[in-house]
Amino acid sequence: SWTPENMVTEAIEEIRAKVGDRRVLCALSGGVDSAVAAALVQQAIGSQLTCVFVDHGLLRKGEAEQVKNDFVKVTGVDLVVADEADRFIGALAGVTDPEQKRKIIGREFIRTFEATARDLDGERGIDFLVQGTLYPDVVESGGGEGAANIKSHHNVGGLPDDLQFTLIEPLRHMFKDEVRAVGQQLGLPEEMVWRHPFPGPGLAIRIVGEVTPERLETLRQADAIAREELTAARLDRDIWQFPVVLLADVRSVGVQGDGRTYGHPIVLRPVTSDDAMTADWARLPYEVLEKISSRITNECADINRVTVDITSKPPGTIEWE
Ligand code: XMP
Repeated sequence: SWTPENMVTEAIEEIRAKVGDRRVLCALSGGVDSAVAAALVQQAIGSQLTCVFVDHGLLRKGEAEQVKNDFVKVTGVDLVVADEADRFIGALAGVTDPEQKRKIIGREFIRTFEATARDLDGERGIDFLVQGTLYPDVVESGGGEGAANIKSHHNVGGLPDDLQFTLIEPLRHMFKDEVRAVGQQLGLPEEMVWRHPFPGPGLAIRIVGEVTPERLETLRQADAIAREELTAARLDRDIWQFPVVLLADVRSVGVQGDGRTYGHPIVLRPVTSDDAMTADWARLPYEVLEKISSRITNECADINRVTVDITSKPPGTIEWE
């Protein structure tokens, strides 16, 4: 039977055998998979690893800092940060279509990552790229060597010809709960290990309407309140995901403080699920919902209404965009 300890030991031996004294690159997203994969590689080969974090400015409150500060402190990884929030938000100006948002964010991400990887390759000569592929992804995509996300036997699909690395996938034998156990074993921050799934395009697809710095700030604050209260009620591990959505194109009349307001609604979308393919709306206790609602309308600028989405998937999706 497996334990987190012997999974770590095995993974480390495998990585050392594969990498030897060559150099490795890993992109961190803020999520548990890339964090655990990077931490394992760090334990195996230390200073031969360089991590890259593209900060697109679309993460939730505290998440970028968690990568830049807490993760680095715990693991000791050599981290290169590309602070590109202005570039991403600039590229999203005037865009309201959800798929267009995804396309733009994907494009900017690849550009940023490629430029950073090319610099590092020139400086240090990189041979390997870490990916946080899990066992279910391997099975789903046919089970071949590095089957997820890559086209041929050794090369990473999507990267240009002059920038090809061999993949290392230290999580390819693990399920999600095993990844979390390994993360805990490695001493990673709790919030990182138990983080709910979070979409790559981040908060950009939780603002229905154009993405602006002010709206991001408002949503970030509302989302932080919802997460704080869910954690305080010890319900965060019972919930699959809890999107908090800002309806930036909708206004409704409210009465706050001295008088009439004309602000935006926030939608709470807590769901239960096993795999995100189907989902049900989570029956959160009224007291928790009440606390979240009153805090959001009190603490978030321009928000005068909080609603709860009670749609299952199907017909609704988990995200609003
Ligand atoms: P939906 O909204 O389709 O979401 O029910 C299913 C799961 O996928 C996540 N999701 C995304 N993840 N990039 C991602 O990395 C995306 O563009 C994206 N869109 C949705 C969503 O959070 C849920 O877990």
